[in-house]
Amino acid sequence: MDFYTRKDFASAADFIREHTAYRPTVGMILGSGLSELASEVSNPDVIPYTEIPHFPLSTVEGHTGELVIGRWEDHDVLIMRGRAHFYEGNSISHVTLPIRVMQLLDIGTLFVTNAAGGLNPDFHAGDIMLLVDHLNLLGMAGQNPLRGPNDVTLGPRFPDMSQAYDLELQQLAREVAEEIGLTLRQGVYVMLAGPSFETPADIRFLRLMGADAVGMSTVHEVTVARHGGMRVLGLSLISNVAIAEPQQGVQTTHEEVLEAGKMTVPRFVALIRGILRRLS
Ligand code: HPA
Repeated sequence: MDFYTRKDFASAADFIREHTAYRPTVGMILGSGLSELASEVSNPDVIPYTEIPHFPLSTVEGHTGELVIGRWEDHDVLIMRGRAHFYEGNSISHVTLPIRVMQLLDIGTLFVTNAAGGLNPDFHAGDIMLLVDHLNLLGMAGQNPLRGPNDVTLGPRFPDMSQAYDLELQQLAREVAEEIGLTLRQGVYVMLAGPSFETPADIRFLRLMGADAVGMSTVHEVTVARHGGMRVLGLSLISNVAIAEPQQGVQTTHEEVLEAGKMTVPRFVALIRGILRRLS
């Protein structure tokens, strides 16, 4: 199907409501290698994506494919343990369906996480980057998730994207990082369709465009979330440093991405816990 509608989103949202007594106000999407963050939730209700009407499924290792709904730092949270990607063959409308479902569940705040390659020469594998903006390269090339009929009950035809990442949430993240002694990188994220990693020429091009990190998700999700009026916090795990010149024996692998995720989980948990604590 090319375009999903409110009816589809509502049937998924109704299903979730019937399977949990929690009423989440914060949504989270956990990217590659970050699934373990969901273990922080106490007394969760767990719903596999396969059971939820219309939900897009992930076929990628490191993306578990279940909703974890429960309590974390005095908030009811709904966590997506893994996400479906555009490169898996799903339409852009389908991969963003979970965001609409969150919107219909009255989730007003979204934390998006991902694994990304570091483009900024100052970044190292294992760093955490706060997204201050993104480059919607797929959108520029015609793959905007809002393409198609606009349902005004969900959001405006021409949504503003001048503050894709909420300024207050960014500030909270910086304060928490300072408090826990975490070096928090900041930058612009760019999404490519994938699944192939970038060539060195791609990398040099993306740097010229002003991007600090590159990945295969997030931008379309944030576009839909902003259309729906949610406020968004974005965090990238810099899982590897992008290769800007071909070198014998040097390459990027998914295993490397997952490994960096495992190493970084404790710092990610501390950061998110601190942000949740400060969130009113
Ligand atoms: N490129 C694109 N996506 C990624 C990378 C990368 O280097 N690392 C993790 N996700």
